[in-house]
Amino acid sequence: MTGMTAPPFAVISGAEVQRALAGRERQITELVEETYRIHGAGDSVNPPSYFLRFPDRPSDRIIALPASIGGKLRVDGLKWISSFPGNVAAGIPRASAVLILNDHDTGYPFACLESSIISATRTAASAAVAADWLTRGRPRPSRVGFFGVGLIARYIHTFLAGTGWSFDEIGVHDLSAEHAAGFRGYLEEAGSGRITVYEDAEQLIRSSDLVVFATIAGEPHVSDPSWFGHNPVVLHVSLRDLAPEILLASTNLVDDVEHCLKASTSPHLVEQLTGSRDFLAGTLDDVMAGRVTVPADRPVVFSPFGLGVLDLAVGKYVYDEVTRAGELHVIDDFFHEVRRYAPGPA
Ligand SMILES: NC(=O)c1ccc[n+]([C@@H]2O[C@H](COP(=O)([O-])OP(=O)(O)OC[C@H]3O[C@@H](n4cnc5c(N)ncnc54)[C@H](O)[C@@H]3O)[C@@H](O)[C@H]2O)c1
Repeated sequence: MTGMTAPPFAVISGAEVQRALAGRERQITELVEETYRIHGAGDSVNPPSYFLRFPDRPSDRIIALPASIGGKLRVDGLKWISSFPGNVAAGIPRASAVLILNDHDTGYPFACLESSIISATRTAASAAVAADWLTRGRPRPSRVGFFGVGLIARYIHTFLAGTGWSFDEIGVHDLSAEHAAGFRGYLEEAGSGRITVYEDAEQLIRSSDLVVFATIAGEPHVSDPSWFGHNPVVLHVSLRDLAPEILLASTNLVDDVEHCLKASTSPHLVEQLTGSRDFLAGTLDDVMAGRVTVPADRPVVFSPFGLGVLDLAVGKYVYDEVTRAGELHVIDDFFHEVRRYAPGPA
């Protein structure tokens, strides 16, 4: 083929990622919505995530999320994200990640981006999109409860606040009093509503119309459906907190059915228990497209597996912003062997 060249290879640091995304909550939620629509329309490739686990370190994992997104976004790539929960005690974040973007025409990787911020951002944006769509048929919640308050909870709060939500009451619950206090400090600085730290999980849930789960629980620890008798909207971002009884008493939505019914998520446990997928109402895209309506007289639980296409969409947004600002840090000579029969650069 003529006219094709290997694209330059850029490295984008976490500081650059953060600058490109700061204050852009509305743009990013719109981008995430658009990505869900493209994915829902089938113009994407999003194979199952690959979980690399270690027999000698059972709580650690590294996940590979390859994906390709079409539409006007048109980019391929891979997120490679580690979760080492022991990091938190050592004072560094649990998750760390890179995102590789690949050129649509040549397949060449053209950027490597720090991706823990991109990952937290797309997760928070997808939670904000869900909070918006799933509350349209009911009074807009003014009491939010955060169940598990690490980095993801902070990003979700930032995205809710940045897309127009304000709350009269904010509830906080965490197994660690220190983490609850840290999150309270963040909320106070963000200038939120009345903050209550609940030691008791039941009280947090009963006091919240919008509940955000962002723990690192590996198996269900909330199992009493009566706690949800006031029909809250539940953003089940950490995926494994709720026992099957809760899901069976709720309207269940996911981001992608095949993805979500894997890896011992709560929806996966329900499928194993009931032998069917009848408990699922559909995807968030089904709700956005009007194919599924969400009744107000039941709890609604959104369990988002987290799709690689979202990382690509947000990563490409960051790349375009950094390029537009003229700040792209290109690694000269990264691709060195580019002439077929002559060693070295062109
Ligand atoms: N679905 C997605 O797309 C997606 C994307 C990114 C992260 N996540 C998930 O979000 C979760 C939170 O991530 P993070 O980076 O904020 O983690 P983190 O380690 O920073 O924070 C987790 C917090 O939950 C608390 N916690 C753990 N178990 C608890 C329990 N049973 N009850 C109450 N609190 C509990 C911990 O003390 C900690 O403060 C993880 O499970 C992660 O896998 C999901």
